[in-house]
Amino acid sequence: MKFFIINGSPRKDGNTAQLLEKSSEGIKSVCNDSEIESINLYDIPFNGCKSCFACKKINGRHYGKCVYNDDFKPILEKIVQSDGVILGSPVYFGDVSGVMRCFLERFIFPFFVYDEKMTSLAPKRMAIGCIYTMNLDEETARQLGYHELFDKNEMVLEKMFTKPIHLYSYDTYQFDYSKYKMELFTKEEKLKTRKTQFPIDLENAFKLGEKIAIEAEQHD
Ligand SMILES: Cc1cc2nc3c(=O)[nH]c(=O)nc-3n(C[C@H](O)[C@H](O)[C@H](O)COP(=O)(O)O)c2cc1C
Repeated sequence: MKFFIINGSPRKDGNTAQLLEKSSEGIKSVCNDSEIESINLYDIPFNGCKSCFACKKINGRHYGKCVYNDDFKPILEKIVQSDGVILGSPVYFGDVSGVMRCFLERFIFPFFVYDEKMTSLAPKRMAIGCIYTMNLDEETARQLGYHELFDKNEMVLEKMFTKPIHLYSYDTYQFDYSKYKMELFTKEEKLKTRKTQFPIDLENAFKLGEKIAIEAEQHD
């Protein structure tokens, strides 16, 4: 079985990367002969959908496929044939990062049919995991409506593929807070959450990986 772990953070050892790594271990614990490929979206020069609509052209050669011929195309072609995908993104201005949005446009739009049922042309109904990491605490994130945006992305993923399993990691630790101008946060408070909550988030990321692997096996 083949899985992709996709990091939408520029920080290769950051919160998102660490949670994704744990989720990968979770997959391995269930399917130890699985092939898991990790992708850092920031390493790939690519853009989002260019709105050419070749993927929607009646009787077109590229119907249901992304025609955009760039470095990302061969990678995308492999991802859409996989058994499971775990997406991880830091939250930037209340939504997933810019590169993750570009990814979602390219991943979803070719398969999206504009009909009453929102039919999907996806070749595989792979299992999908979504990991979000953010600086704010849960209460503030909910007050600001972050989850509504996450749910909107996930609703389309569900229509095209399967219902995503998600994990939210709040109040993340980014750097030594005493060294940056950020008076809303204190180093002590941030370190406290880092020590008490982040290990639980890592355990939950492992469990998410296990669930993705189990779901993928059931679809097989
Ligand atoms: C450009 C930018 C925008 C951000 N916007 C938000 C935001 O709107 N809400 C939030 O809670 N955190 C925000 N953050 C913080 C990150 O989402 C958070 O620290 C995340 O866990 C970083 O993940 P990483 O360690 O994997 O890079 C922002 C960070 C950056 C760099």
